[in-house]
Amino acid sequence: MPLFETKGENMVEISASLLKVKKEDAIHTMYNLETAKINYFHIDVMDGKFVENNNLELMKDYALTASHISNLGLDVHLMVKNIEEIADDYLMLEPQIVTFHIEASKTEERTKNIIEEIKNNGSRVGIAISPDTKIEEVINYLPFIHLVLVMTVVPGKGGQKLIPETLDKVRKLKEYINKNNIDIDIEVDGGINNITSKQAIESGANILVVGNYLTSAEDLKEAVNKLK
Ligand code: DX5
Ligand code: ZN
Repeated sequence: MPLFETKGENMVEISASLLKVKKEDAIHTMYNLETAKINYFHIDVMDGKFVENNNLELMKDYALTASHISNLGLDVHLMVKNIEEIADDYLMLEPQIVTFHIEASKTEERTKNIIEEIKNNGSRVGIAISPDTKIEEVINYLPFIHLVLVMTVVPGKGGQKLIPETLDKVRKLKEYINKNNIDIDIEVDGGINNITSKQAIESGANILVVGNYLTSAEDLKEAVNKLK
């Protein structure tokens, strides 16, 4: 799949979070997910600073394994303070998407530099916003990035319930990008299952990150179809 292909209006993509996958099941799970026709492996990188948990070593390992055994794109979600240094560990794997948090990049100058660094690598770049962050914070960057990741739970752990108010932000963002004719993806992350996926898609999201719902599914193919 070409890196910057434009997508049909109604195409929904699934990015499967490997966060809760056990090490001994990793290869098998990646294979099953690919067979079930997900679109990306979502790599949740946590540094123990921006969020409480630290899984830096495990996620590096999963990203490397996925890039060796699969042709599916990596969708790297950096929940880290030191964005530049940690992004470097992943950029060499040529991920399809690298997303960082605006709450971590903070200043405009730094945010712009990180966008450039990721783009220069040939990856698509995303900015993530936590539930308390308003979409106004990212509006100025929209022409320069490929996606906005709207966190539908507080970042830091899997298996949480979607916060309904976060979908208002998805709707608002969708309205804004339609009105201003901006070609950008909206990704949602956290608490997505067969019911909330419908609400998220109706709100305007076109990439769904899914962790718990897939890792606990008995029939992966059926679960993936239900999400779309
Ligand atoms: C949360 C992560 C998510 C999450 C998704 O901080 O960014 O990717 O693990 O998992 P579920 O679908 O279980 O909420
Ligand atoms: Zn994530």
